Amino acid sequence: MILVVGLTIQCNGGVTSTYRRRMAASDDMPLNADVFQPPPGYNAPQQVHITQGDYDGSAVIVAWVTPSEVGSNTVRYGTSNTTLDMSAEGTVSQYKYFTYTSGYIHQCTLKGLQFGTTYYYSVEANGTARTFSFKTPPQPGPDSSYTFGIIGDLGQTFDSNSTLTHYKANTNAAALLYVGDFSYADNYPNHDNVRWDTWGRFTESSVAYQPWIWTFGNHELDFAPEIGETTPFKPVSNRYPTPYSASGSTEQYYYAVRRASAHIIVLASYSAYGSSNPQYKWLQTELKKVDRTVTPWLIVLIHAPWYNSYKSHYMEGETVRVQFEAMMVKYKVDVVFAGHVHAYERSHRISNIGYNITNANCSPVSNNNAPVYITVGDGGNMEGLSTE
Ligand SMILES: [Fe+2]
Repeated sequence: MILVVGLTIQCNGGVTSTYRRRMAASDDMPLNADVFQPPPGYNAPQQVHITQGDYDGSAVIVAWVTPSEVGSNTVRYGTSNTTLDMSAEGTVSQYKYFTYTSGYIHQCTLKGLQFGTTYYYSVEANGTARTFSFKTPPQPGPDSSYTFGIIGDLGQTFDSNSTLTHYKANTNAAALLYVGDFSYADNYPNHDNVRWDTWGRFTESSVAYQPWIWTFGNHELDFAPEIGETTPFKPVSNRYPTPYSASGSTEQYYYAVRRASAHIIVLASYSAYGSSNPQYKWLQTELKKVDRTVTPWLIVLIHAPWYNSYKSHYMEGETVRVQFEAMMVKYKVDVVFAGHVHAYERSHRISNIGYNITNANCSPVSNNNAPVYITVGDGGNMEGLSTE
């Protein structure tokens, strides 16, 4: 009888949260919204964000902006909030986009951190120091328990604020998997990059304290030849670093990290993916490095889903699926998370890799070696939900 009850419980996923996105689209918060306000103090560091800085989680990349003049590139850090006895030097850069000129964007990698340890860190400019903290993950290993959050398509509306507030209320999640489409600044005239700054200040209350592992979406392209902006991903590439070289990647937009018991592969929907291209060759190499005795979980992040039954963005991920899906099956990826379609959807373990032009085997079939595909649901951006 006890066994029967146990099986019953295991077969019922149940309701994990009562939190629901409103059906109607929400407006972006106004520029004077409280969550967009700069911190007090002239030229105080703002838009502080961190991401994993190496392959295994013993480094963290810290990035921040000093808006008015070049602030210090130094990050002071330590394991006590009263004694920041270590320091690292970063770099600073600036970019222009049409008539916009960014603030001074600082980036600094803290290396050689102890696993499973809380660190405090401080960035400073013109006499204003701001201190934050993060906890490094446990050393990669099969018994390293860890909880990830996941958000995509966040934007900066009132609903986006609701999403982030809801996420921060969950104290279990120790790092966030972000499946692309950040600020939606490109929906403004001339891709008003001021809305990149507001998004940076809005998200700081989470991403300054835990790493967000970035996947890049179409709203990060900011490709606008009509205003002379012909370099794809210019704002995001300047603002949001990734540890791509640690996994042998040669581009910021696809990379891998190991974190606790998970091997996480970040793919790029909007970088070349053909079999002669760097992303394809890198993925082949990276998958061979996966050691399930160390990281039993193999997770893939990509922006545009490969399985999507909604009208919204229907088949947009198809050409990338055709290139990459066989590798997902060969290496038994557990789950592929995507965003882009503003709705939730989850597949069974299916594959569609049997087609060879002449055999007509072009329908997905059940395949226990295949991943589960999850489109994570909308973060709250101004475009609203996909409902059909
Ligand atoms: Fe998208």
